[in-house]
Amino acid sequence: MGLSRLVILTGSGVSAESGVPTFRAADGLWLGHRVEDVATPEAFARDPALVQDFYNRRRRQLAEVQPNAAHRALARLAAEWRSDCLLVTQNVDDLHERAQAGTSPGSGFRLIQMHGELLKAVCTASGRVCEWRDDLQARHPSPHAADGLLRPHIVWFGELPLEMDTIEAALGRCDLFVSIGTSGAVWPAVGFVQQARRAGARTVELNLEPSLNQEMFDEGRYGLASQIVPAFVDELLADR
Ligand code: APR
Repeated sequence: MGLSRLVILTGSGVSAESGVPTFRAADGLWLGHRVEDVATPEAFARDPALVQDFYNRRRRQLAEVQPNAAHRALARLAAEWRSDCLLVTQNVDDLHERAQAGTSPGSGFRLIQMHGELLKAVCTASGRVCEWRDDLQARHPSPHAADGLLRPHIVWFGELPLEMDTIEAALGRCDLFVSIGTSGAVWPAVGFVQQARRAGARTVELNLEPSLNQEMFDEGRYGLASQIVPAFVDELLADR
């Protein structure tokens, strides 16, 4: 089929079957909180203990979850695809990375966690990012600057997602764009499908149910990520 340059976007639906809750549940709350109370810079300034506790719980939870068949299929794609393949995830868990353990991603492969990583912290004074696996205290002294505090390395609402230049460049030259397990509610990821279309890419959505921007995609396949992602990856690798 001659499709070579891939951009894959994933959202919380890809980790749902691992036991990581998705964001927009029927009650409109995010693990019992309003988003503006736990995922904005203003919330952190107002109530750092609440925000740190929210992310401490989510960080601890990572020790209890494992990659599922969808993460593993994407790791296989990364290892076997012979051209450019950018995997952009909105997820802050480390399940894509863990699924890649023991595999060798191809030289054209890159993983970008555009909303940050739970297992990293950032110094509010120096901006330095470091690995972080433990709990953070409400006002956690930074090892990087005397006047700095450590906060989760998470892109909050109102902040700029990471590595947008690299993502936009890849979207501008991709042949195939695949969106997996995301509801299509949060910018800028919602706009990726239009950017890929402008580049002439084929666009496919894999999700439990049609997303909010379903009509932007050439094709949609609906079901559990653990089933539909491995099947789609098999097709892609067979069609090369
Ligand atoms: N398989 C496939 N899709 C699934 C599964 C599953 N097992 N379970 C749920 N889904 C789908 C849902 O149908 C929904 O469309 O995953 C999507 C999850 O949507 P959201 O909860 O809105 O999560 P996401 O799109 O990743 O959110 C984007 O919003 O709150 C912010 O920063 C946060 O990164 C997050 C961003």
